[in-house]
Amino acid sequence: MPLYKKFIAPLLFTQDAEKVHHWITALLEKGFSNTLGSFFLKLIYSPKDYPELRQSIWGLDFRHPIGLAAGFDKDAKLIQPLSDLGFSFIEIGTLTPVGQAGNEKPRLFRIKEDQALINRMGFNNGGLEDAIQRLKKKGNIIVGGNIGKNKVTPNEEAVNDYLRCFNALYPFVDYFVLNVSSPNTPGLRALQDKEPLQKLIQTIQKANSSRNKPKPILLKIAPDLSRFELDDIVEVLQICNLDGVIATNTTIDRTQLSADKRMVESIGLGGLSGRPVANRSTEIIKYLRDKLGPKPIIIGVGGVFNGRDAIQKIHAGANLIQAYTGFVYEGPKFIKKALQEMDYGLKSGHWTWKNRRQ
Ligand SMILES: Cc1cc2nc3c(=O)[nH]c(=O)nc-3n(C[C@H](O)[C@H](O)[C@H](O)COP(=O)(O)O)c2cc1C
Repeated sequence: MPLYKKFIAPLLFTQDAEKVHHWITALLEKGFSNTLGSFFLKLIYSPKDYPELRQSIWGLDFRHPIGLAAGFDKDAKLIQPLSDLGFSFIEIGTLTPVGQAGNEKPRLFRIKEDQALINRMGFNNGGLEDAIQRLKKKGNIIVGGNIGKNKVTPNEEAVNDYLRCFNALYPFVDYFVLNVSSPNTPGLRALQDKEPLQKLIQTIQKANSSRNKPKPILLKIAPDLSRFELDDIVEVLQICNLDGVIATNTTIDRTQLSADKRMVESIGLGGLSGRPVANRSTEIIKYLRDKLGPKPIIIGVGGVFNGRDAIQKIHAGANLIQAYTGFVYEGPKFIKKALQEMDYGLKSGHWTWKNRRQ
């Protein structure tokens, strides 16, 4: 019985979205981060092992392709319970050097009829130091560190913030994401422009290559880039020989929404996620894969609600998938169901996984 979708979500969805996020995360942190809680989550929600969905990427063993997108567990408080719910990797952050409160509330909104969210959180997070204390206990779960700049740091000094985050997190995460695509930090997306982008990537790569064992570095981009801007990004990625891209972040575009226009306008500014961003993100994945060739890893994110959505992005050229909004709408069985669908599709010959990394 679809307990979550039929009974729990309708109840939760009558309450303020950020409050519910806080309740759920507090429940996972306080109630399910212990041995008994972990046993319970695994028993009910952990997916089976699907050897044909496994991949080895950057020497890391991904038990299947679907991970949790950045923003859900910004402060690395829920790595164990989220892994027990079946995600094959967890991206923490966006973390900034110093903790910050983010924008004024309310700042997270549901648009149920479109299976979407709008957020203008503004990188609320507890900062590097607290996250590191928690990451020290993460065990062997694959964790990505999504990093950004503090709101008060001007763009000309942004590189220093990213560098600080990189150096501090280096021993504790498995890959890094340079987030230059949140619409909720004023001016941040200007860092996607050719010159500042190249400077940012090269500075981090220099710090990375001075380490004994450099870690993969990815760039997370917005879905609102024009073809022109995408071409610039492709050029920078090629010049810098970056390990990969995450496509995409939330969109500022509202044209894909069917909800009442006045209601949407009354929400105001913010990044839109979920179903309405799915096609655009898949388009960008395809464009990037065509231009970049087979080598760089593409993590596809945006509107993945089930196995079919994930397969579409893999077909477009993604190697791994992430989800946030789909998890909110589908609930704790999200991964279990999505993998069943992917496995069924593979076994029945509905799709073949051509770009699987082994
Ligand atoms: C409430 C909320 C907060 C988010 N915070 C971040 C963030 O801090 N850093 C980031 O890179 N992406 C953030 N995202 C974007 C997601 O990681 C993802 O790229 C986007 O929501 C599209 O995927 P989805 O349709 O599966 O949600 C956030 C998304 C939501 C809904």
